[in-house]
Amino acid sequence: MSDLTEKIQRLKKEKNAVICAHYYVDGEVQDVADYIGDSYYLAKIASKVKEDVIVFCGVSFMGESAKILNPTKTVLMPDPDADCPMAHMADPETIKKMREQYEDLAVVCYVNSNAVLKACSDVCVTSANALKIVKELPNKNIYFIPDQHLASYIAQQVPEKNILINPGYCPIHHELSADAVKAEMRRHPDAQVLVHPECPKDVTDLADYAGSTSGILEYAKKSDAEEFIICTEKGVFHELRKQNPKKQFYMVGEGQCCEGMKRITLQKVADALELCKTETVIDEKLRQDAEKPLQKMLELSK
Ligand code: 13P
Ligand code: SF4
Repeated sequence: MSDLTEKIQRLKKEKNAVICAHYYVDGEVQDVADYIGDSYYLAKIASKVKEDVIVFCGVSFMGESAKILNPTKTVLMPDPDADCPMAHMADPETIKKMREQYEDLAVVCYVNSNAVLKACSDVCVTSANALKIVKELPNKNIYFIPDQHLASYIAQQVPEKNILINPGYCPIHHELSADAVKAEMRRHPDAQVLVHPECPKDVTDLADYAGSTSGILEYAKKSDAEEFIICTEKGVFHELRKQNPKKQFYMVGEGQCCEGMKRITLQKVADALELCKTETVIDEKLRQDAEKPLQKMLELSK
C-alpha cells in the first residue's frame, strides 16, 4: 500500500468517512473507494450512507445528488472544479415554456444535470433506469433534458410517447464517431461492441449491447465472447480488466477521456479528507425541490 493510500485509509477512519467513486475516475482512485459504480448505484448508495462524511470521487452533479439525498452528511469533492459540461445544457426558461405548451408534460431529467435543472423537473433518470421510468410515466408528452442522445435512444423504444428532445450532449460520447468504431470492428472482427447510450444514434446502431456503465460491465462478464470494443469513457477499462482478466477490451482510437473525472487524484482525495474545505453546499429550498425528482427516481426504479 502506498503512503498516500495509507494516509487516506487512516483519515477515513478518523473522520468516519466513506469514499464513493464513479467508474470513469482513474483506476488508482477507484481502488481506494468503498463504493464504485455508475450514476444510479452511487445515488442509491449515497442516499443510505450512515457515516458522517462522503468523499465523492466524480463530477459536481454527483456530489450535489449525494447532498440532496442525504443532507445531514458532509459531502466533500476532491476537486470542486470537476464538472460535467452536459449538466448545464438545458435551461429553466425553456422548461417553463414547454410546460405552458403541453398540458400533460413530464420533465424527465437525466441525473447528469445541475441542482437547478433537477429542481425544475418531475423525475430524474440515469442511463440504467431511463427506459423503465419513461415507460411507467402516465404522460404522453415527455421533455427529456439535457442529453439529446439518451433521449433519442429512449424515444426509439417508446414510440407511444412524444419525446421532446433538448439539444444537450456529453462532449466525449458525442464525438465518438461511427467511422472510428467501424475501423475498430475491422481490426477486431470477433469483438462485440458495447456502447453507452450517450453516444450518437449511428454508434448505438452498431452495438451488440447498449447500456449504462454498470450494464456494460455486467454484459462483458456474462458474455461468452472474448473480445469487446468499448464505446465509453476509458476509466471503465480498469474494472472490466479486473473482472475479466482473460478477455480483451479495445478502445475506440485513443479512447474517450472525461476531463472532469480525470481531475480526481489520490492526493486530492487525501487533501479533501484532511482539510475538509471542499464541501458541497446547497441552498435548502433548492435542495428540497431537487430532492423530489431524485426520490421519485429511486422509488420508480425499485
Ligand atoms: P452512467 O454512470 O449512468 O453510466 O453514466 C455515465 C456518465 O456519463 C456519468 O457521468
Ligand atoms: Fe459529463 Fe460526459 Fe464526463 Fe459523464 S463522461 S461526466 S456526461 S462529460
